[in-house]
Amino acid sequence: MYPWLRRPYTMPATVITGGAGYVGSHTVMALIEQGISNNEIVVIDNLSNAYCEQGDDKPTSLKRIEEMTGRTIRFFNIDLNDEPELCRVFSAFDVQCVIHFAALKAVGESVTKPLEYYEANVAGTISLLGVMRRFGVTKLVYSSSCTVYGEPRKLPIDEGHPTGDGLTSPYGKTKFFCEEIMKDVCISDKSWKIISLRYFNPVGAHSSGRIGEDPSGIPNNLMPYIAQVAVGRLSEVLVFGNDYNTPDGTGVRDYIHVEDLADGHVKAIRLFDQPGFSGFHAVNLGTGTGYSVLQMIAAFESASGRPIPHRIVARRAGDIAENYADVSLSHRLLGWRAVRTLEDMCRDTWRWQKQNPEGFKTTHKTKKN
Ligand SMILES: NC(=O)c1ccc[n+]([C@@H]2O[C@H](COP(=O)([O-])OP(=O)(O)OC[C@H]3O[C@@H](n4cnc5c(N)ncnc54)[C@H](O)[C@@H]3O)[C@@H](O)[C@H]2O)c1
Repeated sequence: MYPWLRRPYTMPATVITGGAGYVGSHTVMALIEQGISNNEIVVIDNLSNAYCEQGDDKPTSLKRIEEMTGRTIRFFNIDLNDEPELCRVFSAFDVQCVIHFAALKAVGESVTKPLEYYEANVAGTISLLGVMRRFGVTKLVYSSSCTVYGEPRKLPIDEGHPTGDGLTSPYGKTKFFCEEIMKDVCISDKSWKIISLRYFNPVGAHSSGRIGEDPSGIPNNLMPYIAQVAVGRLSEVLVFGNDYNTPDGTGVRDYIHVEDLADGHVKAIRLFDQPGFSGFHAVNLGTGTGYSVLQMIAAFESASGRPIPHRIVARRAGDIAENYADVSLSHRLLGWRAVRTLEDMCRDTWRWQKQNPEGFKTTHKTKKN
């Protein structure tokens, strides 16, 4: 399928699983823009949640990055559970480190399809770790989530907060299980270096407006939902509950601009080069500030100049009132902090949505999967 793989290839490479998706593509962009290295960028993605035009050899997100940067991205349409194919990629490059985004991520869907989630997220991660071990690759940045904390016992949430307690969705459990597996791998072999980045709520898009979040179907998250109401694809935002113990009664979350998040991955990779750095480290990536649903709607109305119709409905089962990060460890360990504001998040989301009302898909093209 990839004939050039048969020739020996000694170029150092960074492997990015799920790199065609939302956070992955912005991280690919950040790695190139910040000239992290001359490494080949090797993306592995099964296109289960990334758009690829019929007849194209790589997903549209990556093609647009190539257009913007002039760099070539090596792309492989491979499932993480396909170990022989993973091995072929690892044997073709001198892989230095892996950033592992690939996963299914819809919390609600995970309740109805638990086996699919455990297979993609947990078995897929075990498959990847096994191949990495076989090829002596021991540096990994992992996409985790604040979901691992469950209901917060105190705010802001720091990395010492217990994880795994009372998790209600299979999705959250997959992130927790993967972290536990990675901790054990690091205990078993001191040469491993794993940084698990616990994202709070990624929003926004690249400032070019050419890449952004492209949910298939009805968005599961607030910001893309608001954006689709603003552009006229959806009629109104449903606000689930206004009787929480928060300033305006609606749920409060820590939203982080996806470009800040991507920068956090670049900083994490740099940490691998520090002498003495080893083992498993979990680090929150958030801003440390929470905004309510009504504040988000108001900020988006101001960024877009359009009214966002919304309606208060009953609380959703399992939702919590407030959630925001203690970000002091990310400052200390990574030397990173979020610099983009709520206005930046809304402006960049709006630019992406306005320029791409149907996401990456254009009217005459169809989705591959
Ligand atoms: N976006 C968020 O709100 C959020 C929050 C916390 C954590 N995360 C985590 O960050 C990571 C990236 O999230 P995202 O928002 O970019 O999601 P995304 O769906 O946009 O990207 C994930 C990519 O992985 C690919 N993929 C899925 N299963 C795969 C498999 N078995 N083999 C190969 N490729 C596969 C998909 O095609 C997609 O391109 C995920 O691990 C997610 O759980 C996301």
